[in-house]
Amino acid sequence: MMRTRAVFLFLGFYIGLVAGDWNILGFMGSKREEDTAVAAGRKNYCESWRMNVELNNIRGFEVVPDECVDYVGRYVTSTQYEVDVQLAAEEVILFLAHTFQLGGDGKDAWVFDVNDVLLSTVPYFKQRQFGGMKRNASAFEAWVKEADAPAVAHMVHLFHHIRTQGLKVFILSSRADYLREATVDNLINVGYHGWTELILRSPEDNYSSAETYKAAEREKLVHEGYRLWGIVGSQWSSLGGYTTARRIIKLPNPLYYEY
Ligand SMILES: *[C@@H]1O[C@H](CO)[C@@H](O)[C@H](O)[C@H]1NC(C)=O
Ligand SMILES: *[C@@H]1O[C@H](CO)[C@@H](O)[C@H](O)[C@H]1NC(C)=O
Repeated sequence: MMRTRAVFLFLGFYIGLVAGDWNILGFMGSKREEDTAVAAGRKNYCESWRMNVELNNIRGFEVVPDECVDYVGRYVTSTQYEVDVQLAAEEVILFLAHTFQLGGDGKDAWVFDVNDVLLSTVPYFKQRQFGGMKRNASAFEAWVKEADAPAVAHMVHLFHHIRTQGLKVFILSSRADYLREATVDNLINVGYHGWTELILRSPEDNYSSAETYKAAEREKLVHEGYRLWGIVGSQWSSLGGYTTARRIIKLPNPLYYEY
């Protein structure tokens, strides 16, 4: 047991290599009481796990690791999370102040995603162990239909700041099209209005992934002559693909991974 613990304490360096399959409890043995060093080790592990999720080094996780559920729950409900989002919003405002020039032809555009960008899914995931339970699309969609999601802090302000610069705002989400009414109601209720188009996913579409779908939808906008100045997403799949924008902004989201 002592040997296992020593191995754990020294293996921090290798966490990134094996995090996908790694379970800290299995590694440490399940019966032993935690001591301070192990608790600190767990916090390091969870912080490292979250950091590597944000960096897109850890991909395709289905659930938040058991041992990090508390950590992730504390983070997404913390002032730190709000400050992280605020700083990202300020970077957008700075980018626009320094770089953006209005074309005057109505073709300057900005793209926002919905989940954990304009609307927070934290209240939903709070009922689902902050991502520690397997995802359940029908349970999530039932929650979306309630149209009761709060805005993500600072995003209503950013949304209107961007609009008042003269940019057209496109909202591009992988929410299904039959959730349109609930999504529109929810967006309006928390203070968003004046977007140009809300693009949602047709259940019949044959895109292989959210990334392919979103890139293809942006491609259509580019074909219509829009200049995409920026995208704000909380998933890397909202930002990548072959049609991107001049500036991409990734908001924190350790709750789930969407391809
Ligand atoms: C998913 O959620 C639905 C609706 O809440 C529920 O009926 C169903 O049993 C859940 N499925 C799983 C696999 O948990
Ligand atoms: C996907 O669907 C569109 C029409 O909905 C069709 O034109 C296209 O050929 C389909 N692509 C594939 C790969 O099946």
